Amino acid sequence: MKNKRVKVRRNDPCPCGSGLKYKKCCFHKEGSLPKNNHQEQYLQKHGIRIKEARDIEGIKTAGRLALQTLDLVEASIQPGMTTDDINTIVHEHTIKNGATPAPLGYRGFPKSVCVSVNEVICHGIPGDRILRNGDVVNVDVTPILDGYYADVNKSFFVGTPGSNAKKIVDVARECLRKGLMMVRPGNRIGDIGFAIQSFAEKEGCSVVREFVGHGVGFDFHEPPQVPHHGHCGEGIELIPGMVFTIEPMINLGQKDLRILDDDWTAVTLDGDLSAQFEQTLLVTVDGCESLTPFPLK
Ligand code: MF3
Ligand code: CO
Ligand code: CO
Repeated sequence: MKNKRVKVRRNDPCPCGSGLKYKKCCFHKEGSLPKNNHQEQYLQKHGIRIKEARDIEGIKTAGRLALQTLDLVEASIQPGMTTDDINTIVHEHTIKNGATPAPLGYRGFPKSVCVSVNEVICHGIPGDRILRNGDVVNVDVTPILDGYYADVNKSFFVGTPGSNAKKIVDVARECLRKGLMMVRPGNRIGDIGFAIQSFAEKEGCSVVREFVGHGVGFDFHEPPQVPHHGHCGEGIELIPGMVFTIEPMINLGQKDLRILDDDWTAVTLDGDLSAQFEQTLLVTVDGCESLTPFPLK
């Protein structure tokens, strides 16, 4: 590691990496020496750990396993199976591939995947609930592979969906796409939430406030928080190397929720449908790359 305490002279290149001379750049700013770069500033100010190339490769590899797991679940979903059957598929496929399911034991969560059916917004605990024709089922998968976390979820139909099921799944998927389109350096966290909220509400749906996207990669939940509602131009500025999820939970009716006695399951207060899609995203120099890509048609 480079010694950051060496003396910088006025005519030396500025340690912040701007390419300017020190005297034309950070010499005049507060503190004796500038932070050597954005990375250090983001860690100190926001607790955000910027990812480097090898980290990104690691998260991508975990992401490929997560997507493969979701494909396996999608191919198996049928009326009559239980949410615990989905847990078995996810658990076994994760272990078989040398990974660990992050949910298992996380803050006391008892299973290896979140399975959230119909009025369940998120954090559904797999159990003996039987999937029925027309259900909307969200499956949220987070493997830890080689120390790296990738977090991704999709909402599936069981059998043939009705018009309300189609509507909420289409709106939730488009909300993720609208959020993702705002991810580029210079934009802010609030731009993402604004884009999502505007679309959801224009469609007559509502955005859940209690759960947010989050930094991810080295840990399950890292700073920053990424709300799915908000205002343009507010919040932290996005910089290359940030990795975070966008995972809007969209309700067909009102946004309000309650938590069941299991202390996990979040359900809509009005009992109406909810749907969600999630990807793990990297801010690149000129935009965004999904580390868990799937089509948002
Ligand atoms: N995967 C969820 C997320 O997207 C978190 C689930 S926490 C658990 O952030 F403990 F319920 F698994
Ligand atoms: Co997440
Ligand atoms: Co997730």
